[in-house]
Amino acid sequence: HKDIIALKDLNKDEIELLISTAENMREINSRDIKKVPTLRGKTIINLFYEASTRTRTSFEIAGKRLSADTVNITASTSSATKGETLLDTARNLEAMKPDIVVMRHAVSGAHYYLSKRLSCSIINAGDGAHEHPSQGILDMLTIKDRYGRLDGLKVAIVGDITHSRVARSDIAGLTKMGSHLYLAGPPTMLPPGVERLGNVTVCTTMKEAIQDADVVIMLRIQQERQGKTLIPNTREYSRYFGLNPENLKWAKPDAIVMHPGPINRGVELSSYVADCAKSHVLKQVENGVAVRMAMLYHVSGGAVVTE
Ligand code: CP
Repeated sequence: HKDIIALKDLNKDEIELLISTAENMREINSRDIKKVPTLRGKTIINLFYEASTRTRTSFEIAGKRLSADTVNITASTSSATKGETLLDTARNLEAMKPDIVVMRHAVSGAHYYLSKRLSCSIINAGDGAHEHPSQGILDMLTIKDRYGRLDGLKVAIVGDITHSRVARSDIAGLTKMGSHLYLAGPPTMLPPGVERLGNVTVCTTMKEAIQDADVVIMLRIQQERQGKTLIPNTREYSRYFGLNPENLKWAKPDAIVMHPGPINRGVELSSYVADCAKSHVLKQVENGVAVRMAMLYHVSGGAVVTE
């Protein structure tokens, strides 16, 4: 693929290839000298129209570990603030001959729009409420690390499903890999029609979703996509859909807890759960670097890394 925009566009073999390449890339990250010449001479532009800590930093580190030249652009300090359109910005950046543009944008589908108009590769670092494919792959890698497989697992996804690009990529990826997904959230945060996807059960209570789950993925309320008035408000939300030591007991005894970050402690996740031994939040972040290395490698035309 020239671009990686959405896991819904990848088949099972392609998802497995990204996961296995990331597994191989991890070896580089554990060395004393964390750098290989694989993408030497390539230029990567990280173009972020929305805030990011994990994704932008790990794409930059991933590019540098593969010896690419990486450049970061934040929209708030770019000429986008002077009214330049996304297409003009992208065409001007392309005139500088980058090989890959990694972009985060608030508009769902912005990457498809650019993909048809630019010849360089585009990787989606999150587009509105549509997809966040690198997060989806790193979530699958983290689950596979724990269980050695993805098929047959009960995975609960709890929270603001409607506005979550992470949920959309997790659902697209995990259902292809044979996991059984159980979704729970307030009715205002459950997208209509999601139950029609194969292997997805929409639950009316959090208990139904996390009962005997192998994996519990908690989501942040995407307030930036909902306006000022939250229904339910954060207090009500936390009461019915927050994960705490008591309701975590409903999941399997050795279940793992995941969250894409940033966490709103005390809302979707109690501090105790966020920091407990079952929490794999920082393992997700660690895996994010290897997954982004794998994505940069594959859009550059790489074959499977075997050593
Ligand atoms: N999970 C995630 O996308 O985090 P950032 O918004 O910090 O990149």
